[in-house]
Amino acid sequence: MDKFVIDGGRRLCGTLRAQSAKNAVLPLLAASILTEQRVTIDEVPMIADVTCMAQILRELGAEVTFSEGNATIDSANATEHRISSALTKELRSSVFMLGSLLSRFRRAACAYPGGCDIGLRPIDLHLNALKRMGVEIEEREGYILCACDRLKGADIVLDFPSVGATENILLAAVKAEGRTTIAGAAKEPEIVDLQNFLNAMGAKIAGAGTDTVEIEGVDRLFGIEYRPIKDRIEAGTYLLACAACGGEVEIEGVHGECLGLLLHKLRENGCKIHTKNDKIRIASYGRLKCNRRIETMPFPGFPTDLQAQATAVNAAAEGCALIVENLFETRYKYVPELKKMGADIEVNGRNAFVRGVARLHGATVSCGDLRGGAALVIAALGAEGVSEVLDLSHLDRGYFDLSGNLKKLGAEIKRVRV
Ligand code: EPZ
Repeated sequence: MDKFVIDGGRRLCGTLRAQSAKNAVLPLLAASILTEQRVTIDEVPMIADVTCMAQILRELGAEVTFSEGNATIDSANATEHRISSALTKELRSSVFMLGSLLSRFRRAACAYPGGCDIGLRPIDLHLNALKRMGVEIEEREGYILCACDRLKGADIVLDFPSVGATENILLAAVKAEGRTTIAGAAKEPEIVDLQNFLNAMGAKIAGAGTDTVEIEGVDRLFGIEYRPIKDRIEAGTYLLACAACGGEVEIEGVHGECLGLLLHKLRENGCKIHTKNDKIRIASYGRLKCNRRIETMPFPGFPTDLQAQATAVNAAAEGCALIVENLFETRYKYVPELKKMGADIEVNGRNAFVRGVARLHGATVSCGDLRGGAALVIAALGAEGVSEVLDLSHLDRGYFDLSGNLKKLGAEIKRVRV
């Protein structure tokens, strides 16, 4: 077990290149078993979720090797269609393996997925869509058992633009018989990246990034080498860290429009933001002002994965802020930890009412989930005095070398063995 020891109050200055997007690489790894030919995904971040997804693929009989930062998947000998409950409990993304496994083997079995404890996270939209595509589904002792003679194209309407359900349908539809349409699809950049990856493999998909996606089933897909998009949530996390600490930081590899309303909210705080192609520069000087309201929404709204980090920034800004978390039921578990640092926040259901304080102070706090943990690190970086941040395994799921990158920017942060 490790912890961070952070001596807050230092400005952040410098340039970082974003890692490949965790939430793009995970579906691409799931998609790699749609062909028996070799697939290489360049520059994969060596984070726990990626190594866990690699383990899932190995359990299916695929060979997964990492060299020089690239992942190569050879699933020619994969024969297994069941994913162990241990691994599916580890990782939410295991659920869109259902689409890939059904495409490859016409059968799939996995336990109900795990992942961050941020809400109920049902998978009804995934399962209803697969049923419309001809899949028989049985839920037995916490396992989901799926089987079909042949996946059939269908017209699917999503009541909610679920990222995972959209990805699962794409993975099931690319080699289905006939045409599939998804109305009400998620529009996140990671969906567009999955479309581009699958089309490079020989699929026929159009419309990703809009709320209507069309897929023409094809017979075969082919091995490719592919570079995923960069991680907009990691980038947003560093931008918010600079907002909280003051200083000037430039993030390379992410276009401003991939961050939804974040840049607009940072300008509202009083930060100077400049974007040029895939570079985003932030300058933060003096006391920030609270955002009057931050409401998380599906893309292109304010990203739910930056809600906790933005709340940490508002906790030490001037004024009050209302945070509304519309996507997940319990995504405020980090608030009691922020309050140990002096934050004045009241949570009521999906709302968090923040009264900005002059300065947070150091404390010992524990991460409870990936993005809540990032919020604690941001708060500690801007706080007066020394903090200890425990349970780093949550952070290691999504941020490669977080402390090394922050140190590069001038933060006083050490990762020590407990
Ligand atoms: C993806 O999760 C991301 N994870 C999440 O990032 C992200 O927060 C989320 O999309 C929203 O953008 C990955 O891509 C691996 P959803 P996912 O299906 O697919 C409800 C992070 O920190 N819903 O869009 O699970 C659900 O309850 C993680 O990197 C149903 O009701 O998100 C939630 O309220 C956290 N039924 C809402 O939709 C379903 O069948 C959004 O879920 C599916 C979802």
